[in-house]
Amino acid sequence: MLDLTGKNALVTGIANNRSIAWGIAQQLHKAGATIGVTYLPDDKGRFEKKVAELVEPLQPSIFVPCNVQDDAQIQTAFETIQAKWGRLDILIHCLAFANKEDLSGNFVDTSRQGFTTALDVSTYSLVKLCGAAKPLMTEGGSVVTLTYLGGVRVIPNYNLMGIAKAGLEMSVRYLAAELGPQNIRVNAISAGPIRTLASSAVGGILDMIHHLEEVAPLRRTVTQTEVGNTAAFLCSDLSSGITGQIIYVDAGYEILGMA
Ligand SMILES: NC(=O)c1ccc[n+]([C@@H]2O[C@H](COP(=O)([O-])OP(=O)(O)OC[C@H]3O[C@@H](n4cnc5c(N)ncnc54)[C@H](O)[C@@H]3O)[C@@H](O)[C@H]2O)c1
Repeated sequence: MLDLTGKNALVTGIANNRSIAWGIAQQLHKAGATIGVTYLPDDKGRFEKKVAELVEPLQPSIFVPCNVQDDAQIQTAFETIQAKWGRLDILIHCLAFANKEDLSGNFVDTSRQGFTTALDVSTYSLVKLCGAAKPLMTEGGSVVTLTYLGGVRVIPNYNLMGIAKAGLEMSVRYLAAELGPQNIRVNAISAGPIRTLASSAVGGILDMIHHLEEVAPLRRTVTQTEVGNTAAFLCSDLSSGITGQIIYVDAGYEILGMA
């Protein structure tokens, strides 16, 4: 049975009720996990208020700001976890960023600043957060990150984010190999296209969704809840033998050769 009772789960990347991280947090909570939430702070505190209201039903015992580009915020977040929980079992890395102008147009026009920022937020942050989580995962653990097919194949407009996801997927393998002896498992879910704040920055996201509805084996795209269910499985003992993998939750689209 899928049971996460007694497990402490930190979920990053909740922005609103469309966020994949929100779908994941709900399913982890349903399975009995204790939830901690990080949010991206903004100057006016609007984001904090919005996310706090949304996650209230999950009664998160930790609610801390964490801009992954800020080492001090990462340190404070994990100090809070150490102080409140003492032990971390589950880390959900569900965030990414690229400048909107780098998610359409010509890939060759990508700026150095845009490239660096996208890789820093979307790729390096997984490595950094795993480094912070490692000493707290004293009884083993499960890390789950989110990727997309555009990190393996060329998808129109995904451009720079494809490079970030390729790096992310390879980071999953290196991290899984390195942390495995501590029984820390690291996996990625490659989700089909879902309308969210982040995905609406990718040119033509609706076309991608409609395309799946026409050709994917299941003739539809997927939901945040379906991704959340797979994340819950990957965080549970039911998946104890799985690490370093990219699991596709995409209505079967990845298998197609002439899509
Ligand atoms: N929506 C899709 O179609 C889709 C498909 C496959 C994979 N993904 C991936 O799922 C993950 C979640 O995205 P989403 O689609 O739910 O969109 P979203 O906009 O709801 O979530 C993105 C999150 O990233 C956070 N973020 C951005 N910069 C940050 C920073 N510097 N520090 C901390 N947090 C930061 C935002 O606050 C937000 O919560 C991303 O990795 C995305 O690439 C999305």
